[in-house]
Amino acid sequence: MLVQPRVEPMAEPDIGVKRFHIWTIGCQMNEAESAKAAALLRQAGYLPTPVEEEADVIIVNTCVVRQQAEDKAVGHIGSLARLKRRKPDLRIAVTGCLVTGQQAKLAERFPYVDLFYGPSEFERLVEIAPELREVDFDLAELPHYYDEGQSDPDVTAFVPVIYGCNFVCSFCIVPYRRGRERSRPMEQVVTEVRRLAARGVKEVTLLGQTVNAYGHDLPGQPDLADLLAAVHEVEGIERIRFLTSHPKYFSDKLIQAIADLPKVCEHVNLPVQSGDNEVLRRMRRTYTVEYYRERIEKIRETIPGVTLSTDIIVGFPGETEEQFRATYRLLEEIQFDKVHVAMYSPRPGTLSARWEDDVPRQEKWRRHRAIETLQERICRERNLRYIGTTVEVLVDGMAKGRWRGRTRGNTLVFFEAPGEWKGRLVSVRITEASPWYLLGEPVGERVAALAS
Ligand code: SAM
Ligand code: F3S
Repeated sequence: MLVQPRVEPMAEPDIGVKRFHIWTIGCQMNEAESAKAAALLRQAGYLPTPVEEEADVIIVNTCVVRQQAEDKAVGHIGSLARLKRRKPDLRIAVTGCLVTGQQAKLAERFPYVDLFYGPSEFERLVEIAPELREVDFDLAELPHYYDEGQSDPDVTAFVPVIYGCNFVCSFCIVPYRRGRERSRPMEQVVTEVRRLAARGVKEVTLLGQTVNAYGHDLPGQPDLADLLAAVHEVEGIERIRFLTSHPKYFSDKLIQAIADLPKVCEHVNLPVQSGDNEVLRRMRRTYTVEYYRERIEKIRETIPGVTLSTDIIVGFPGETEEQFRATYRLLEEIQFDKVHVAMYSPRPGTLSARWEDDVPRQEKWRRHRAIETLQERICRERNLRYIGTTVEVLVDGMAKGRWRGRTRGNTLVFFEAPGEWKGRLVSVRITEASPWYLLGEPVGERVAALAS
């Protein structure tokens, strides 16, 4: 799941302090790593600024999962040349998947960039922020909002629990840029979550490219279900989510843990990528449609009210109209609550990049649009069912004058009400629904029976 470029939101008034600006594109893992870099810089006395021109340090956190994301990141790095000419003391760092194994080439192309550092190589930040030498920090345990001074901490936070990916899907660049799977020890994750809870965070999302591969490389081989149970014990945390799961590791034990642990939200993101077995085989996904369908049945049977989302790629090399229709039919059959659909983008170095990218761009667009239209209808129908019901919403902020939050099932909800609602778990009676969000009115705090 890709997010749009995002910048640090806050400006703070102090004069004479150094400022940093972080530009991020890509997955939630990138968001988490940017947050960690921000926490480090804040520890070293820097303050965030949303205005790039005001910054003393700029970090560009890149993504190369698709050409479009790579182009945006490269374009942004290019746009900083002028600023650097105007402000020679400005320090620029570039990180993320663009960087791995490409430092020398990038340094040649962007000579004004001071530092290229790989994902999670936070210790290298000292090269552009020497003040970090004075800071006594434990990188492994640094939670996202470590600084005690932050006045308005977020309600939700991402917590990486496993880095890298051991799968080799034929279309995917991630294993080449993020390496083999490395799980963080359970105590380290729990410590981080405890610190986040102490800062007012109410909801954590445990992250990994294949989050449900968690633990196989650790002594005693704990798994994601064990980790969920451990995080569940942390006082102050009200909700736990996790992203992204691979169907192959979606075990019965994990499904039961979601059903049994009240803080674990009834929402599962399980990328299927295609509804055709031959395409799945060429994608090297290691499962069949029948296997995937059986997992979904088991999830729905064990977790009442569960919501489901998935990822789809259209226009994979050789994907015929019939194979595309199989994907379309699978989406009609399963009725996901959300679908992230991407047009296939060949990534140099991957297996499928050696094959002809033979679905014309126009046709990829048509398939993309067809799935979006189908999904809009399905989401509208699914969301209409909420009208008149009361759902539990964790309010994470305001947008356009309305309070905004999410249900346990991850559906966006807005409501208008006077007073301060941020960080509260509110019962909201739903009055209107669109394919993308629900509207309602608050009727109390926390519902007895948790609706999804
Ligand atoms: N681990 C997850 C899984 O099991 O599918 C996915 C992680 S991947 C980094 C995130 C999403 O990006 C994928 O689900 C896929 O839909 C999309 N993606 C990855 N490579 C792509 C490519 N070459 N072209 C189009 N979309 C791609
Ligand atoms: Fe990519 Fe497949 Fe891993 S999509 S992140 S190689 S599970």
